[in-house]
Amino acid sequence: MSRDPLIALRPWESPEVTSWGRLPMSAVDRRAGALSLDGEWRFQLLPSPDSPVTEAWSSQHVPGAWTLQDTDDLPQYTNVRMPFAEFPPAVPAADPTGVYEREVDVPAEWAGRRIVLQVGAAESVLLVHVDGRPVGISKDSHLAAEFDLSQVVRPGRRATVRLTVVKWSDASHIEDQDQWWHGGITRSVLLYATDPLHLADVTVRARLDGELRVECRVRDAGGALPEGWYVSGELDGHPLTQDEEFDRANAEDERVSGFLGEALIRATVPDVRPWTAETPELHGLTVRLHRADGTVADTSYRRIGFRDVEIVGRDLLVNGERVFIRGVNRHDFHPLTGRTVSYDDMRADLVLMKRFGFNAIRTAHYPNDPALYDLADELGFYVVDEADIESHDHAHEIADDPRYLNAFVDRVSRMVLRDKNHPSVIIWSLGNESDYGANHDAAAGWVRRHDPTRPIQYEGAAKRGWADPDLASDIACPMYAPIEDCVAHALSGEQTKPLIQCEYSHAMGNSNGTLADHWAAIESTPGLQGGFIWEFWDHGILQRVSDGRPAGRTGAGLYDNGVAAPGHRWAYGGDFGETIHDGAFIADGVVFPDRTPKPALYEHREIAAPVRIECFKHEGIVLGNHQHFRGLDWLSGRWELSLADGRTLTAPAELPDLRPGETAAVPLPFELPRDSGEAWLTLRVTTAQDMPWAPRGTEVCAPQVRLRADAPVTDAPVTDRPVVVDAEGLLVHPLLTAAPTLSLWRAPTDNDELGGMAPRWRAWGLDALVRKVVSVHRDGDGVTVLAEYAGTVGVVRHRQVFTPVEGGIRIDEQAELPEEFDDVARVGSVFETVAGLDLLEWFGQGPWESYPDRSAGAPVGHHSVPVDELFTPYLRPQESGGRHGVRRFTLSAPDATGLAVTLDAPRQVSVTRFRAEDLTAASHHDELVPRSGCVVHIDAAHRGLGTASCGPDTSLSYRIAAGIHRWSWTLRVL
Ligand code: GAL
Ligand code: MG
Repeated sequence: MSRDPLIALRPWESPEVTSWGRLPMSAVDRRAGALSLDGEWRFQLLPSPDSPVTEAWSSQHVPGAWTLQDTDDLPQYTNVRMPFAEFPPAVPAADPTGVYEREVDVPAEWAGRRIVLQVGAAESVLLVHVDGRPVGISKDSHLAAEFDLSQVVRPGRRATVRLTVVKWSDASHIEDQDQWWHGGITRSVLLYATDPLHLADVTVRARLDGELRVECRVRDAGGALPEGWYVSGELDGHPLTQDEEFDRANAEDERVSGFLGEALIRATVPDVRPWTAETPELHGLTVRLHRADGTVADTSYRRIGFRDVEIVGRDLLVNGERVFIRGVNRHDFHPLTGRTVSYDDMRADLVLMKRFGFNAIRTAHYPNDPALYDLADELGFYVVDEADIESHDHAHEIADDPRYLNAFVDRVSRMVLRDKNHPSVIIWSLGNESDYGANHDAAAGWVRRHDPTRPIQYEGAAKRGWADPDLASDIACPMYAPIEDCVAHALSGEQTKPLIQCEYSHAMGNSNGTLADHWAAIESTPGLQGGFIWEFWDHGILQRVSDGRPAGRTGAGLYDNGVAAPGHRWAYGGDFGETIHDGAFIADGVVFPDRTPKPALYEHREIAAPVRIECFKHEGIVLGNHQHFRGLDWLSGRWELSLADGRTLTAPAELPDLRPGETAAVPLPFELPRDSGEAWLTLRVTTAQDMPWAPRGTEVCAPQVRLRADAPVTDAPVTDRPVVVDAEGLLVHPLLTAAPTLSLWRAPTDNDELGGMAPRWRAWGLDALVRKVVSVHRDGDGVTVLAEYAGTVGVVRHRQVFTPVEGGIRIDEQAELPEEFDDVARVGSVFETVAGLDLLEWFGQGPWESYPDRSAGAPVGHHSVPVDELFTPYLRPQESGGRHGVRRFTLSAPDATGLAVTLDAPRQVSVTRFRAEDLTAASHHDELVPRSGCVVHIDAAHRGLGTASCGPDTSLSYRIAAGIHRWSWTLRVL
């Protein structure tokens, strides 16, 4: 047995032990003025925590995960299941343990001061030694641990700090979140000093009406507090004083000993500018702790916001308003450094969220770096702060296991203690996917007493029944509930709590179908208030293909626009040789691993539009302000009129002065040209000034209304230009390398695969239909071709009628799907072109990718995009690059030659360098070899995307029925 007591205790197998020698958590921020211990540390990776430390040191950068820094312990991805078989609280004997060591020169001027070591985060057990002496133990991988070193180190001397980090522990069983497993010290390490007399904690309550209470907890390292200390404060430069009434009451209270260091500052701030996510008004609060002679012993500075959060009936109110929660779940993630994220990275995440209309973040599934909350306060987000508890694989056993009781209360209370002063935090979450048991109620009870100002949510409790009056969830916060169920609950008369989905619209691959339908229901149904999209990130780790290792910190710049540089790829589960893993399920975010937005974000941006076109009436365009707290003065507008004849007209727009919820009619900015065909009016809304999250002129939304429907044109047949087909009835055309044939298959999306559709389609043989020509019938210059496409269980009859028309060929198609082929991926034509046609121009929805159930954010207009940029490089290749509502398009070479297609109705079209079979065969984007020509799909019907990889499939209206489908298109040469 080891002689080191921290090792001999075997704390990694003792859930009751949550810490030893660790200081209580505090909301006082000590980052400013601290000595950073970040940088290179001596390092060795032991096979288990009780293996002897050797002389074989290498080095590691702190903060960072050793799993990403050239050790043999590589990242592993699992969703629900634990990566090992041991039952909680046990762990495998092989338990990678990182030993970090470095010297620290303790400043001489710290003599007489209290010296504290702070380790920002360590996974999953931290053991601290200084100069060989045991100092402390901590668990709770995503919160800082502090240790008082005053008695251990000597100012002016050098000390050796050793941080031993054990990867697998009893705590791993409650840190079983759906993410990569790593080991290491993932947040900064620092050393700071305070006066022995110090502010141990500060609790701020700042209300909408200007009432301010600042509770101070004062301690002295020497034990008893010195006589005569007092606190003072300053808000935006205005002095605040200690509340004597509170002191008197304390003095008279027999239960309060003289030892108690509590003081209160109370003030009423007149004309306070309230904080909301739309108006993140912050005020600077300085709290000073004075000695009896007035000198300052300690100071705490923070920015605070005045706001109220409450639940009234079934509404969650912020400052009295029922706000919509347009949320997203965010993990700490970086493709090179894993859970180690810099301030700049966090800021970039939040800036992007802001630009795409999000106003809320759930810190799935653990407390984030402290800077994230500062940024949320500053940029304006409502935060659901979630404790680091997920016991997914052993949820039922652990929720009521008294051995884990301490850990539950410890984790929830430490989060609340740290983050309680952030105006952005409006809800506490007890964790994720850990069933529901007495351990949760214990934690909830602690929160209710310590912070009665915020609601609590916990999905595991809400699961028991959305209206259940349980102790642990004030909010009905289900995950992936179908829209119909939410609406039915809100209409049932049974609803008792606000319904805000903690996760919905699973963003895996090409997804987020029906997002607009969700929001149509939310905005029109009292009781529904929004939700948090799952999730922000695709957690692809940048990997070198040559040796399969993570690129790590040296990989900066080896990716662009969502794509890894040649020789690299975005690794997902299984790519590091793990045998137990959950594949690409880790790639389920609205941004690529390098934060490049996926097209789904544009959908969200439009759905969240602060200003909207309500309708077009004879008196003009009715605009509405859909914000909760501010006018439209921070926005500017520009009208854009897109006409089917090819023209786009623009005009400046004057946005009316509208308060939240108001509407007003503005005159139609254009005289509608006659004979211009279909006409669409778009309001391009941009920021009118520089915002902290967007420079002036950044587009915020582009609401649109149709002013005139199309007038269908039929091409008159011409003679003397006979259509040529071969013996198989396939069109012969100089620009086509593969003639138009019928397609019912798309490269399965993750939703298609995991939702069970793709396996069914494969079983029907839709990926390999066998075409057989039945007849080729010439009628003058035209040709009618009948063919059959046989699957394994049914045959589709397909007819193409080719008619020469002015400048080209009209193709009228009909496909008759047998009963067996109910609910297919698409019904349409596919053909391939010669090389060199590299630009797609179209009139239809765009410019970004859109699908039938994800098209609210793609306005109709004239768009032009190089073919190579049409495709979206989802990590696992799948159907991608589609454009919805296309009326006509051209595919051209730089010399303007090429082809033009006119469609009989707005259709789903895709133009890519890949056949559906190319995409289906590849598992990673880097395996794809682009074809030189274009693969063009024109779909009479295309199935919606839905979210069935985790959650509801697309709704019935976006599915494709068996029976007869007809479509026509005209092909011309430019
Ligand atoms: C939820 C879970 C998330 C994630 C998601 C699927 O059940 O809370 O952590 O696993 O499903 O991607
Ligand atoms: Mg889970």
